[in-house]
Parts: sequence; structure tokens; C-alpha cells
Amino acid sequence: MTIAIIGAGHVGQALAAGWARAGRDIVLGIRPDRSADGPPTDDAPSARQASPRDAAQAASTVVLALPWAAAETALRALGDLTDKTVIDCMNPIVRTPDGMGLAVGHTWSGAEQVGHTWSGAEQVGHTWSGAEQVAQWLPGANVVKTLNQVGAEVMADTSGFAMPPVMFMAGDDDAAKSIVAGLLTDLGFGPLDAGDLTKARLLEPHALVWINQALQRGKGRNWAFAAIDRDDAS
Ligand SMILES: NC(=O)c1ccc[n+]([C@@H]2O[C@H](COP(=O)([O-])OP(=O)(O)OC[C@H]3O[C@@H](n4cnc5c(N)ncnc54)[C@H](OP(=O)(O)O)[C@@H]3O)[C@@H](O)[C@H]2O)c1
Repeated sequence: MTIAIIGAGHVGQALAAGWARAGRDIVLGIRPDRSADGPPTDDAPSARQASPRDAAQAASTVVLALPWAAAETALRALGDLTDKTVIDCMNPIVRTPDGMGLAVGHTWSGAEQVGHTWSGAEQVGHTWSGAEQVAQWLPGANVVKTLNQVGAEVMADTSGFAMPPVMFMAGDDDAAKSIVAGLLTDLGFGPLDAGDLTKARLLEPHALVWINQALQRGKGRNWAFAAIDRDDAS
């Protein structure tokens, strides 16, 4: 199985490093005008580089590690991803009057889904997510929301924790979630199925809990969530 990672920034490189250690075949999708020097891939020396479209077309699993603002244009340029497993790591974060929020998640009065402008006064519910928007941009792809809930440092290295950090995933295709569960396990996470893709509406705000604690509350970036069962839990 070849994994294409589209976007070779903090998250893309962290995942490349983790999966390279697990022996996975990785191709990094990098914009042609940015690949002259290439990203530092010292931690993933086996990773190849290609254009985002060539990388995505060569892979059965495509990981989206792009800034949300770049996503629509970048995703539409990847070509047909029908039947591929697409891992959406992106958090559609925006600055709001309260500090930090999600650019996607609110519907306005009427049936139309509007996703790019925050307006508390007109908000009527949390009924949409970035991942569902991604699925609309990539019809036929099996989108799984995950790897958006902790910082890139933890994704790169899950060692040193008392137990595997939990990583929720949401998606409509059980076969795709099974593949993703294996990839999460490779990275040292304990995968936990949150349900269908609409549950991305829970996982995207959940990421804000980590970011708030790490960056606004001074906890730093070296921690993760765990799911702890009682000893006698069945
Ligand atoms: N950083 C974290 O700890 C973290 C944790 C969880 C989730 N996330 C989410 O993961 C996503 C990536 O975050 P990040 O921190 O890795 O961002 P980043 O360091 O800024 O990296 C983004 C990468 O995307 C590339 N890129 C931008 N536009 C592109 C396009 N049109 N085609 C191909 N590549 C493009 C950039 O490369 P060039 O501009 O050089 O071409 C850059 O390498 C974001 O949505 C973020 O919310 C981040």
C-alpha cells in the first residue's frame, strides 16, 4: 500500500516519519514550485516526492495535511480519488471575536450550507464539518477524519506515554476505517471509531480543546488524550 501525503509541513513530515519507521511506502505530494530544495525528510529517508496530483494518483491512501484555506483548490487539482481512502487531518481554524473557532460547522437560516464566514448572531446549529466538505470536493473518495486531534510532535513520536494516546476517527466506509485503524496503530495511537463522517462535527471542535490547552493555557505540546477503561470494564 502506498500512502500519499499531500502537504509536507509539520503534520505531513511527522506522519511521514512515523510511517517510514513502520516500513510504509510513502510519497510526499509537494507543489512543483516548492520542491526545488525539497522539505527536510531526514526522518523519512525512504519517502519519495512527486507533484500532489501524481502522488495522489499513485496511492491507495491519500492524507490531506494542508492549510484549510488551500484545501478546495488543492483537492480539486488531485484528480479522481474514487474508492481511495482519504485521511483528512485538516482543522478549519479561524480567528473569531472570542479568539479561535472553526470556519466550518455552522448553518445559516435556510437550507444552504455556508462554511467560510463566522457569524455568531446567525448561527443556528453545528451541522457541518470540514471533513464533510472535503467529501463533497472529492466525490467517491472514502474520507476518514482523524489525526487532527493532537499536535504534530505527538504524531511524529508517541513514545514515552503511559498508554497509547487515543485517536478518534470518523468515516462512512468501514473498510477505509479498518485501513486507517492500522495506520493509526503503526503510529502508536489507540484508534477509536467515533462513527460516520458526520461525527467529524465532534472531532473538529475536539481539536480546539487540545490547541486551547497547549497554546492558550500553557500546557505545551507534549501531551495527548487517552481513553482509560476501568479494570472491570467489559
Ligand atoms: N501543526 C499541528 O500540530 C496540527 C495538528 C493537527 C492538525 N493540523 C492541521 O493539519 C493541516 C496542516 O498543518 P501543518 O501545521 O502541517 O501546516 P504547515 O506546516 O503550514 O504545512 C502545510 C503544508 O501544505 C503545503 N501546501 C500549501 N498549499 C498547498 C497546495 N496547494 N498543494 C500542496 N501543498 C500545499 C505547504 O507547502 P508550501 O506552501 O511550501 O508549498 C506546507 O508544506 C492544517 O489544516 C492544520 O490545521 C495541524
